[in-house]
Amino acid sequence: MNLLVTGGCGFIGSNFVRYWLRQHPGSRVIVYDKLTYAGRKENLNDLWGHDGLRLVVGDIGDMHLVRRTCQEQNIDLIVNFAAETHVDQSILGPLVFTDTNVRGTHVLLEVARELGIRLHHISTDEVYGHIRAGHQSVETDELAPRSPYAASKAAADQLVQAYAITYGIPVTITRGANNVGPYQYPEKAVPLFSTNAILGEPLPIYGDGLQMRDYAHVYDHCTGIETVLLKGKIGEVYNVGTGREMTNLEMVDIVLTTLGKDHALVRHVTDRPGHDRRYSMNVDKLRALGWEPKYDPKQAVAEAAKWYVDNHWWWEPIRSGEFREYYNRQYAERLSGADQ
Ligand code: NAD
Ligand code: TYD
Repeated sequence: MNLLVTGGCGFIGSNFVRYWLRQHPGSRVIVYDKLTYAGRKENLNDLWGHDGLRLVVGDIGDMHLVRRTCQEQNIDLIVNFAAETHVDQSILGPLVFTDTNVRGTHVLLEVARELGIRLHHISTDEVYGHIRAGHQSVETDELAPRSPYAASKAAADQLVQAYAITYGIPVTITRGANNVGPYQYPEKAVPLFSTNAILGEPLPIYGDGLQMRDYAHVYDHCTGIETVLLKGKIGEVYNVGTGREMTNLEMVDIVLTTLGKDHALVRHVTDRPGHDRRYSMNVDKLRALGWEPKYDPKQAVAEAAKWYVDNHWWWEPIRSGEFREYYNRQYAERLSGADQ
């Protein structure tokens, strides 16, 4: 099989490429990536030079390049990870989220339709909005996104479904829970808190820290996507997570305990506007295909925190570069008025 993996230099995409090439040695993977701040060639340092891997640098919104790449590389399957992905960045500068997540996905759908290629789209639990206590989202629930990021992902998710209905093109969708693991850009909570703790810097917890997330290991997301690619029903949507959540305070406790760092580093800071209180998904539909997560969320967070201890080479250049400017913009004022 020849796969076009868009966003393959990002966090989940690079983990997926590594996993896929190991499990399916005869496959070819073309990574198609714009290399934004979150797209890092070094995420695949161990794999460049592999016969089955190639990189095309490009924007998923560039229809000519997407079409030409699919034709030249004889692509059978597009797996779309490419996106702007951080809620806080979507609050600071939302328009690029529509450009990439909505229009970019739309371009991929048009090319898939024209060339008769299957498309698998990576969506998120955030499309369901925040979930009242006692409920777990199922795939047929209505979408009720609440941030510019989530709204752009919901629009993409619905476009993919609309193309399947209107044009009958072969698509599948997975909606992933919060992922943690190797190569996650340190703007996201677990890598931010892990690297801050290692550096002895304060950990900025938004509001009361009682928001709940299902912190799933990226490995289980990759096996979930593989399961849907191999056994999923065309036209269907599948949730991928563990089905278990914890509060952010519990997550921070695991990070600090794993790293042997002091809880005095915790600071409660001004909350994120529109902060979703709880995500929670039912994953029985994917389980019915024979998939099971290997990690529980506590293990997943601990393993992720340890990775940052062992991989300073990866995150130190990021943290000392352009990330610093974003960090100051997002946190300087919050931390100056913070409570312990
Ligand atoms: P990431 O931010 O680490 O990586 C995104 C990748 O997409 C980068 O390599 C970037 O260069 C690339 N990209 C961005 N805009 C592009 C464009 N216009 N054209 C081509 N490439 C472009 O993201 P991630 O955390 O790996 O998330 C991957 C996918 O999984 C996204 O679709 C995201 O919405 C979804 N998802 C993420 C999580 C999570 O917890 N991280 C959970 C569920 C779903
Ligand atoms: P994040 O990793 O940004 O993922 P998402 O918002 O997509 O769930 O954040 C995970 C949780 O951690 C979320 O409830 C927001 C919270 N959080 C903080 O409390 N402080 C922070 O500095 C960040 C980045 C996130």
